[in-house]
Amino acid sequence: MKYIKDTLEGKTILITGGAGFIGSNLAFYFQNHHPKTQVIVFDKFRDSNTFPGGNPTSLGHFKNLIGFEGKIIVGDIHNPNDLRTIANLEFDYVFHQAAISDTTVLDQELVMQINHKAFLNILDIAMSKQAVMVYASSAGTYGNSPAPNTVGIGEKPENIYGFSKLQMDESVRKILKNNPKAPIVGLRYFNVYGEREFYKGKTASMILQLALQVLENKKVKLFEFGEQKRDFIYIEDVIQANLKAMNASKGGIYNVGYGKARSYNDIIKCLELEFGKFEVSYIKNPYKFFQNHTQADIKDTISDLGYQPQYDLESGIRNYLKEIKTIYEGLN
Ligand SMILES: NC(=O)c1ccc[n+]([C@@H]2O[C@H](COP(=O)([O-])OP(=O)(O)OC[C@H]3O[C@@H](n4cnc5c(N)ncnc54)[C@H](O)[C@@H]3O)[C@@H](O)[C@H]2O)c1
Repeated sequence: MKYIKDTLEGKTILITGGAGFIGSNLAFYFQNHHPKTQVIVFDKFRDSNTFPGGNPTSLGHFKNLIGFEGKIIVGDIHNPNDLRTIANLEFDYVFHQAAISDTTVLDQELVMQINHKAFLNILDIAMSKQAVMVYASSAGTYGNSPAPNTVGIGEKPENIYGFSKLQMDESVRKILKNNPKAPIVGLRYFNVYGEREFYKGKTASMILQLALQVLENKKVKLFEFGEQKRDFIYIEDVIQANLKAMNASKGGIYNVGYGKARSYNDIIKCLELEFGKFEVSYIKNPYKFFQNHTQADIKDTISDLGYQPQYDLESGIRNYLKEIKTIYEGLN
């Protein structure tokens, strides 16, 4: 679906983290719906390094960009030379997705350097060019505060990832206090799932992981007792929010969720509609900082940005199953 009327002809769009899940979906959205726009992807891609927990240190993957016809720049947002490359580009909009997106990383210095400090440098560059900045914040900023989660209330992150995202928002708040019209919009994504997330591996959504377990052996594992609730949001609605945000009349920080919390057991019910009954075993949760209940208060996102989520859990999963089956076939 096309979300804005403007053709964006002659405009240049920079997407940091464009080889990742959300960034690559944005890149293809612009390629398909705004073909007269120049799209530049900037990403570190993955190398052979892993965090102590075993996940790759960056999750971008070339396969997410097969068919992308825009420009690709390989670089690290934390590297001064690569930042100079960004500063030398001309662009009208930047969608900043690059980050350590793995919420289990414990190296506080590294997460702050990449998620907060590098963001400030890119924000400076964007502001010097009067480019619009739309950046990825997170529901992780709320930690375990009671749902529904409203921007400005209960911002008590439980891990360094959530803290780094909150610091991004706090830095932006300071700028917006002096200049509310500054074109900077932060989007606090809740639990995103959908096409092109496969290469996130163990950090991909539970929807993908559970569906693959069902296809694999008709058995799934959930943390006891599957009633933890999250605001699951389909990638298409995240793209919509980004598109609405690029035309916002003022800067701000907004929640991006469906606006309703659903449980992991609800995911099971959706999968059973497709695959029939299967075995579910409940295991102990090893994470101290697991969020038990998140739900986005999206009133302001609706009124200020004109955002209107289109996919509930049932329809999002139904849409996504085609790709999940293709992934499964590729693995076997
Ligand atoms: N997926 C979700 O559910 C979710 C929820 C809340 C917030 N977010 C945020 O949204 C953004 C996109 O998330 P995603 O799910 O697409 O994750 P992702 O890991 O697939 O994408 C992040 C991309 O950034 C790149 N990257 C990492 N470090 C980099 C660096 N130093 N320099 C250049 N590129 C670098 C990675 O290679 C990757 O392609 C992230 O900022 C993430 O924190 C995601």
